[in-house]
Amino acid sequence: MLIGVAKEIKVGEARVGLTPAAVVEYVAHGHEVLVETGAGAGIRADDAAYEAAGATIARTAAEVFARADMIVKVKEPQPAEWKQLHAGQILFTYLHLAADPDQARGLIESGVTAVAYETVTDPRGGLPLLAPMSEVAGRLSIQAAATALQKPNGGRGVLLGGVPGVPPGKVAVIGGGVVGTQAAQMAVGLGAEVTIIDRSLPRLRALDDLFHGRIRTRYATREAIRDEAFTADAVIGAVLIPGASAPKLISRDMLAGMKPGAVLVDVAIDQGGCFETSHPTTHEDPTFVVDGIVHYCVANMPGAVPLTSSEALNNATLPFGLALADHGLAALGRDPHLRNGLNVHAGRIVHPVVAESLGLPFEEPDQLLAA
Ligand SMILES: NC(=O)c1ccc[n+]([C@@H]2O[C@H](COP(=O)([O-])OP(=O)(O)OC[C@H]3O[C@@H](n4cnc5c(N)ncnc54)[C@H](O)[C@@H]3O)[C@@H](O)[C@H]2O)c1
Repeated sequence: MLIGVAKEIKVGEARVGLTPAAVVEYVAHGHEVLVETGAGAGIRADDAAYEAAGATIARTAAEVFARADMIVKVKEPQPAEWKQLHAGQILFTYLHLAADPDQARGLIESGVTAVAYETVTDPRGGLPLLAPMSEVAGRLSIQAAATALQKPNGGRGVLLGGVPGVPPGKVAVIGGGVVGTQAAQMAVGLGAEVTIIDRSLPRLRALDDLFHGRIRTRYATREAIRDEAFTADAVIGAVLIPGASAPKLISRDMLAGMKPGAVLVDVAIDQGGCFETSHPTTHEDPTFVVDGIVHYCVANMPGAVPLTSSEALNNATLPFGLALADHGLAALGRDPHLRNGLNVHAGRIVHPVVAESLGLPFEEPDQLLAA
C-alpha cells in the first residue's frame, strides 16, 4: 500500500502523522511511504531523516493526497485537505466529527473511508489512541501550574516542592483518570502535597494502591471539592463524562474563597471546561486572571511538546495503522476495536454515536464494506 503523510496545516499544529521510526516499520511491512517535504519540521525531522527511514519525499501535499492509498495524519482534515480526499482512500487521524458538521459533509462528499483515532477502543473499554495525549496533557498540567504559580506570571509565588523548612505547595486534582493520574505523578515527583478527587470509588481505591499512601484521595462531593479548592495552590480540572460536556465543578463565587494567586488548570477545556470561569486559551497566551485566580485553559496542550506528543501518538497508532496497511478494509473485520474507529465510509456516516450527534442517518457498514 502507498501510505501518505502531508504536513499538518491546522494553525499551531506541529505534530506529524508518522515519525521516521514509524516509517521504518511500514517499509519493513512492504509498504511505500510518501512524505510531503517539510512534514516533520515541527519535530525536527528533516526530509533526509525520512529518506533514511525509507520514505520518498513529495514536493506538494497535492501529490500525497492524489497518490496515497492511506493518509495518516494527526488533526482532522481542513477544508483544503478534505477536498483532495477521494473514494477508495483510507484516512486515519483524529476527526472529532460529532461537533463538526462541515467536516462531516466534506468527508461524506469525498467518498473516503475515515477511521478516527478517538473512537478506536480497547478490550478494557478504554480509548487507546486518546490515552497518550491525555498522558501528555496530564504531565504538562503540573508544569503549567508550576509556571503560572510564579509571581511574574501572576501567581501566588509558591514553589510546589517547597524547600527544607518550608512546606510544599498543595495540588488538588479533580478527576483521577488518565490525565489526573499523570498530573498526580508529576506533582508527587515535584514534592507537592497532592489530593485526587473522583466520583468513582473503585478509581479512588486503585489510585490509593498505586500511590502507596503518597497522595490523599477524596470522594467528589460538592463539599470536598470546595474544601480542597479553598486550600489548594493549584487545582487541576481533569474530569470526563464520555460524550457529554464537562460538569462545572468550581463556580465563579467559589473563587473568592480560594487563596489569592492560586492557579486553576482546566485540562477539560476541550470538553467545555470544568470551571465556570474557564474559556479556551492558546499556547501564545495561555493564562488569564479572574477574581485574582490565574486560569490556564489551553485546549491543545500536547501541541506545546510536539516531539514527545508525536512519538507517543505514533507508538499508539502504529499497530492499527499497520493492520490497515497490511489488510486494507479487511482489517476492520478482523479487529472490532479498530472497526469502532470507522466513522465515514462511501459517503455515509457509519458510527452510531457520531451519526446521532450530527443528526444524520446511521448506516451499518457491513454491507457497504462488503460491496
Ligand atoms: N486540554 C487538552 O489538551 C487535553 C488533552 C487531553 C485530554 N483532555 C481532556 O482531559 C479530560 C480528562 O481526560 P482523561 O483521559 O483523563 O479521562 P478519563 O476518562 O481517563 O478520566 C476522567 C475521570 O473523571 C472522573 N469524573 C467524571 N466526572 C467527575 C466529577 N463530577 N467529579 C469528579 N470526578 C469525575 C471519572 O470518574 C474519571 O476517573 C477530558 O475532558 C479530556 O478531553 C484535554
